[in-house]
Amino acid sequence: MFVAEARVLGLALLGSVFASQTAWAAEVSAPTPEGMLSHFESWIALAIVVFAFGAAWLLNHQAPKLRATGTLLAALGCFGVVWWFVGILGSGVLDNPKPFQAPMDALKPGILWTQAIVALLGGITLLGVANRQRKGTEVLELSGANEVDRYGRVSRVMHWATAMLFILMIPMGVFSSMIPENVWYRTEYNIVHKTIGFIVLGLFASRLLWNRKSKRPGLDPSLKPIEKRLAHGAHVALYVLMFAVPFTGYVMTSLHGYPSFFFFIELQPFLPESEAYIVWGLFHKYILQYLIYLILGAHVLGALKHHYIDKHQSAFKRMVS
Ligand code: HEM
Ligand code: HEM
Repeated sequence: MFVAEARVLGLALLGSVFASQTAWAAEVSAPTPEGMLSHFESWIALAIVVFAFGAAWLLNHQAPKLRATGTLLAALGCFGVVWWFVGILGSGVLDNPKPFQAPMDALKPGILWTQAIVALLGGITLLGVANRQRKGTEVLELSGANEVDRYGRVSRVMHWATAMLFILMIPMGVFSSMIPENVWYRTEYNIVHKTIGFIVLGLFASRLLWNRKSKRPGLDPSLKPIEKRLAHGAHVALYVLMFAVPFTGYVMTSLHGYPSFFFFIELQPFLPESEAYIVWGLFHKYILQYLIYLILGAHVLGALKHHYIDKHQSAFKRMVS
């Protein structure tokens, strides 16, 4: 009895946090304009996935010129995000979004601006790196399996493909949640978001399987004990996020009674419709999103600090080719 009451009270409290409980996971939108390529959103999702895997493969190639091409592609990916952001500025959605559901939703335009500026700075930095790499002659001798003190090619390709897709999903998710219900491309955005989310889930599973087959290297010996603890904690947390973020998105969507998509394949909800979607939405849209900023920020800044401030080249080069 008490548990049931507590659940109702909890849901009521959560509901009151959000100004409206309208379709979080809504798929309702105007039909796609005539003349568009059939399932064009699935082609876009496929292009993004192929791009990420292609760039990740080139980034870890034996030949220096091809590694430079991988870095150039990563830079172009960053500029692609900036170009997309300029496009969405022109769409008017940032000024007239779907009604906000929680007070912190007012932060969304600012979050997108920040992410676009980070993408611009990242793209410019990567262009400089590609230019330097172009002049290099070092052949990267790397086996497929992990070694005692550095990651092998398979782990590196999976890490960088995941990194690109995961990072891209953040602004894409924020923007998708701002698109008003009646705008035709709302469903299309959701299809791309959900498809790439499932690919990240697949990458997470593949990485776990690969780690069983090929032992991960221990942490870099140049790290101080506290840095080792922080780095290890961040790695564990990132593995948890790679699973928890897409999983909560899938459960939230299913509990709300909407389908999910893997490219053009429509996956019907796997759970009965329930108000509990609010709790899962709270995790997918708010708690985990802010945890991503915290943990991923620490992971990336930590890696850059080892390289540029501590000058521990070996730590960075264990994953970066
Ligand atoms: C630009 C962004 C990123 C940079 C510069 C970066 C850099 C690195 C580096 C240098 C390592 C090796 C650390 C060591 O051996 O001590 C590493 C490992 C790792 N990274 Fe990233 N990373 C980035 C993005 C991401 C993202 C987006 C995720 C996941 C969501 C992620 C998950 C991981 C995990 C789980 C490990 C540990 C791998 C293992 O031991 O299996 N990284 N990263
Ligand atoms: C790597 C995986 C994923 C990441 C990083 C991610 C991230 C995000 C983020 C940051 C948002 C914006 C939340 C907000 O500001 O309101 C969002 C929204 C959303 N996500 Fe995901 N997501 C992932 C996977 C998935 C999956 C697999 C599904 C469903 C199958 C999903 C369904 C949704 C939906 C429906 C919304 C929009 C909710 C709305 O209209 O308000 N996500 N996601």
